[in-house]
Amino acid sequence: MMALTAKMKIYDRLHTAHDGPYTACDGKLFERRQKAHCESFMNAIIFTIKKMSNPIYLNTAACGLVMPETLVAANQLYAGFEHNSSTRSEEWRMRVEGRIRQAIADFVGAEARSIAMVPNFSWAWNGIVQSLKGSERVLLFKRDYPSLLEPFRINHFDITWVDAPDGFNIDLDAVTKAISNKQVDIVALSHVLWSSGYKTDIKAIGDLCRQHGVLFMVDATQSMGANEIDLAQLNIDVFAASNYKWMNAGFGTAVLFIADGFLEKYQPVVGGHNSYKMVNGVMQYTPSVQSYEPGHPNMYGLTVLESAIKHKMGLGVANIQNHNYSLAQKFLLGIEDLPVKILGDYSMNHRTAIVLLKDEEGLGDYIKKHNIVVTQRNGLLRVSMHYYNTAEDVQVLVDCLKEKYK
Ligand SMILES: Cc1ncc(COP(=O)(O)O)c(C=O)c1O
Repeated sequence: MMALTAKMKIYDRLHTAHDGPYTACDGKLFERRQKAHCESFMNAIIFTIKKMSNPIYLNTAACGLVMPETLVAANQLYAGFEHNSSTRSEEWRMRVEGRIRQAIADFVGAEARSIAMVPNFSWAWNGIVQSLKGSERVLLFKRDYPSLLEPFRINHFDITWVDAPDGFNIDLDAVTKAISNKQVDIVALSHVLWSSGYKTDIKAIGDLCRQHGVLFMVDATQSMGANEIDLAQLNIDVFAASNYKWMNAGFGTAVLFIADGFLEKYQPVVGGHNSYKMVNGVMQYTPSVQSYEPGHPNMYGLTVLESAIKHKMGLGVANIQNHNYSLAQKFLLGIEDLPVKILGDYSMNHRTAIVLLKDEEGLGDYIKKHNIVVTQRNGLLRVSMHYYNTAEDVQVLVDCLKEKYK
């Protein structure tokens, strides 16, 4: 990975010379850079990373690859735990924890005081749902992720279910009507659907919710790290995402954002030592977003996350998104004339870099035999591409499918 690190340094120098240091990860600074420069940089990185991976890995929607350089600081931290763990961990809490919270906040366009660093999406979501009154009427999508749905279902919320009649596109008329007619108090949806790859228009839905006084809760586990997200521009009340997929930060951490208005109305019903603040030398119960961090943090995981955020900011999330979408487009074009069935059509409308195919006639096993890793589940194959994938990776899969159906 020396080559990659060197490239990053060169990039940092170029970047600083042109634009000044990064302040937020909105990718816009990167966009101003000459396209050719971006492409050659991206290609160099992709080439280096490609050499690291053995199988053709098209499965970030299941779990993202972790880059070795994002482990360095975390390994150093734990090496310190071999000899003086109390001092090292206290140092981390004093000096690093706040910095990581700020890095996360910058990455998603929020204030640090609205960010909790939680163990996973499901934990955060359950905590949030517990804080509701229980009488709220909630709009949910039938095929959304179980951890998004269950906390509402098992707690007997009044649920308005929406579906995707064609198996891909969420029934937006039903969503719009339910919000506009005030039939629901909360809309809770994934930004990108695990089950289809459908990308929800969180800007339009958030705006409509705000207009009608409806709360909007978003699961961004299948999007954060691969899609531009600027919470400052979005009307979202609660936003949560695990970091082991498109953030490439391994297991054990997730991000939770709670808007001020939501937190004022719905006080946390989970708590612990982080619910206390020192006031005039006395520890006082002071509930805040940090009540969602009741115990000691995952220092290793969060240190990996900090490095992963830096890595992504270096690449530019806008670049990652463009790269990934162009691979998805290439894949769709490549298989359009084959007798495989996909969820949705062959356009990029409401799509990210996740494509689901019907697993028929032994297709999944055939792909696996050719050393290509995708998700095989429930009669479907889920193909997903991230920044370390290349056009050649996609071509290998397309050729494999062509071979199967020739
Ligand atoms: C949309 C979505 N949300 C959440 C998760 C995972 O949540 P957790 O990390 O809490 O298990 C997944 C995993 O596949 C997912 O696809």
